[in-house]
Amino acid sequence: MRYEERTRASRRMFEKACRYLPGGVSYSIRYFEPYPVYVSAARGQRIRDLDGNEYTDYWMGHGALIMGHGYHPIIEAAVSQLREYAHIGFPHEWEVKLAMQISRMVESVEMMRFTNSGTEAAMYACRLARAYTGRKVIAKFEGGWHGGYDCLHIGVQPPYEVPGSLGILEESLRYTILLPFNDLEGVEKRVRNLDLAAIIVEPVLGAGGAIPAEPEFLKGLREICDMLGALLIFDEVITGFRLSPGGAQKLYGVKPDLTIFGKILGGGIFPAGGFGGRAEIMELLDQIRRPRPHERAFQGGTYAANPLTTRAGYTLLKELGERPEIYQRLNQLGEYARNGLEDAFSKHGLAAHITGIGSMIGIHFAKKKPRDAKMAQQMKDMEMAKRFFRHALENGVIYLTPEIPHLFISAAHTREDLDNLISVAEDFVRRNATP
Ligand SMILES: Cc1ncc(COP(=O)(O)O)c(C=O)c1O
Repeated sequence: MRYEERTRASRRMFEKACRYLPGGVSYSIRYFEPYPVYVSAARGQRIRDLDGNEYTDYWMGHGALIMGHGYHPIIEAAVSQLREYAHIGFPHEWEVKLAMQISRMVESVEMMRFTNSGTEAAMYACRLARAYTGRKVIAKFEGGWHGGYDCLHIGVQPPYEVPGSLGILEESLRYTILLPFNDLEGVEKRVRNLDLAAIIVEPVLGAGGAIPAEPEFLKGLREICDMLGALLIFDEVITGFRLSPGGAQKLYGVKPDLTIFGKILGGGIFPAGGFGGRAEIMELLDQIRRPRPHERAFQGGTYAANPLTTRAGYTLLKELGERPEIYQRLNQLGEYARNGLEDAFSKHGLAAHITGIGSMIGIHFAKKKPRDAKMAQQMKDMEMAKRFFRHALENGVIYLTPEIPHLFISAAHTREDLDNLISVAEDFVRRNATP
């Protein structure tokens, strides 16, 4: 049945939403044409909409829900915490336990501070890098997404040279430069002779299309930063606790100076963010060593390290740290899905390529496999991508975003789910490939 015929209640809700929420949504990427589904239930790897349609979910709460929806141990921990104390505004044990747990899992993290989102974590990490180095310039990558902080909100989608939002002053971006992803020579050329405070990089571009850094690339960035006395910041908001217990940095064998986290950090279900790294850098935040506010770097907030987020996060990370088999399975499922999808598209000659690593999958309707987000944007067949999205939706598979599909697998997904995803792709190819 066509999407419009089976989602009448969602359409009505969207019409109402448009009167009270700009564009009908609370985050523009959650909108898709002609209107999004409104979710009424979620369990494991599935969601149900207001009309009772079920979908296998490959969006998984922006990639936060590594164990799937409604994961029992997290719900239990959160409910217990709600009964004990929920918001307190004083220090409590869970922030300490979570910081210790992260430090155990992620080698480069000696100390942590917690925030309420990845955006905030990126903002504070950049500030800290500038404070520590006494320098101004932050370098980010074309297609890199670190949230909506002014000085990082450029070069996310084409056109790369202009601020990514109205209201961002050019002055806020005066000390931000853009670098080419997976192109060390290009990076070297652009960072030479700059007052470089830090390079911030997603080890695997997420919103840019699930495009992994090539191993030598991250190693090269480390060397460049060392040579220039700049900090290397890994944005592991997506990859942290997803690609391995120690994050992408463990997998690639590259140690950043600072790392930012989010999503999985809050148990997947609470607003979360945080940044951590070498103690010598993090100590610039220390109010005991630096009692005068203007002599330290600021970070804080009413809900920073709140008990619900930190207990849920601790409960999840502890389990992830103790059960390597979860990663083995997630990575196998990811590999299986990537191979199956690549075969499905190539067998029938439809120009599409699959990227990703571990439990992250990117689908690119393009003639070549992209090595960076710029290439993915330039080559993409937008109409084909949108058509595939619609086909998937009408066959019970949902993800975001339609134009640059990036899918997340959770521990709740099964081999059968992925067989179904692959057969949805095969069916699409049969209908759309030109013989
Ligand atoms: C790699 C990356 N960094 C930072 C962010 C921003 O995190 P948040 O949406 O929690 O502000 C995101 C969000 O999707 C992200 O994918």
